[in-house]
Amino acid sequence: MTSPQTGPAAVICGLGAVLPHRAVPNEELCAELDTTDEWIRTRTGIRERRIADAGVSTEDLAVAAATQALESSGTNDVHAVVLATTTPDHLMPATAPSVAARLGLTGVAAFDVAAVCTGFVYALAAAAGLITTQTARTVLVVGADRMSQLPAADDRTTRPLFADGAGAVVLRSGTATEPGALGPMVLGSDGAHRDLLIVPHGGHMKMQGPNLFRHAVDRMSAVTRQAVQLAGWRLADVDRIVPHQANARITAAVGRHLTIDADRRVQNIEYVGNTGAASIPLALAQASAGGTLRPGHRVCLTAFGAGLTWGATTVTWPDLKPAAHPHHDTAMERT
Ligand code: UT7
Repeated sequence: MTSPQTGPAAVICGLGAVLPHRAVPNEELCAELDTTDEWIRTRTGIRERRIADAGVSTEDLAVAAATQALESSGTNDVHAVVLATTTPDHLMPATAPSVAARLGLTGVAAFDVAAVCTGFVYALAAAAGLITTQTARTVLVVGADRMSQLPAADDRTTRPLFADGAGAVVLRSGTATEPGALGPMVLGSDGAHRDLLIVPHGGHMKMQGPNLFRHAVDRMSAVTRQAVQLAGWRLADVDRIVPHQANARITAAVGRHLTIDADRRVQNIEYVGNTGAASIPLALAQASAGGTLRPGHRVCLTAFGAGLTWGATTVTWPDLKPAAHPHHDTAMERT
């Protein structure tokens, strides 16, 4: 799918993210699982992850991140809410309408997108479609997940990886040439490989790690190339890739395939783990706050997840204001 060069484009004008307060270091998992800090660090790059308290819902995380993004954008005049999540609070209804209502956006279009760890990129594409078809002028896009609830308590292959968090952006109608305008979107799926990472109804997550790893590297490398090419850039022009944070070794392998060295790869998996659909907006918020992502940078967002699903898009990073009031309550904090 490509964005039209004429007519409205979707432009990022706000960004926010939150993490649960509770940090769980590898050492804490070693007390419960047959694993070591060394194995987790060297095989995944993760040192600790944030885990939401039992009373914190996906809706709570989404509302907190969205509040930050709305403050950053300086507007509450939002016409649609798109929530990417793998962990909706109910089988039905979707979680997005509750998020919208909690934000005082009653009456606006609101729906969930289920594309697992690619969910945020799929949600950006859906939101950009709402803007380019003039269905909505401003759209709130949230990625929120409580992935930590999906593995079995005794599964050492999945429990160290998955964690909780939320991130959000506000998209407004603008022009394709201004900073913050989303470039062409590339999306794909292959359901023939759904068993590589699956949570059966009423069951726990099952993962075929090494096979999934190979698909992740191949798909993220290919989709990054495609999105960069459609944007009219060369890989050498890309200042930052912001990959879904599944495993530091996957990000490194994608970097090797594309000749994008470590200082052009945004990575925050060390202290957040794999937060599903929240992963990319969380990485954006942390990299932007920390100064590794700066206005004018040519950025490629690239994701891969269960399904299988994959997706990528480009953006020239805009000059965004941080939210005025840090979100801080007993359950979670601004990143
Ligand atoms: O977000 C969606 C996308 N997610 C992904 O793409 C995840 C992709 N996969 C991965 O990140 C990696 O495959 C894992 C991190 C899941 C596993 O790393 P690996 O290097 O592929 O390890 P492996 O599964 O090949 O296992 C190597 C060894 C095995 O032992 P043997 O058979 O060699 O004796 C495992 O049983 O490591 C063992 N092992 C562990 N040992 C200590 C597996 N998990 C653990 C553990 N602690 N937590």
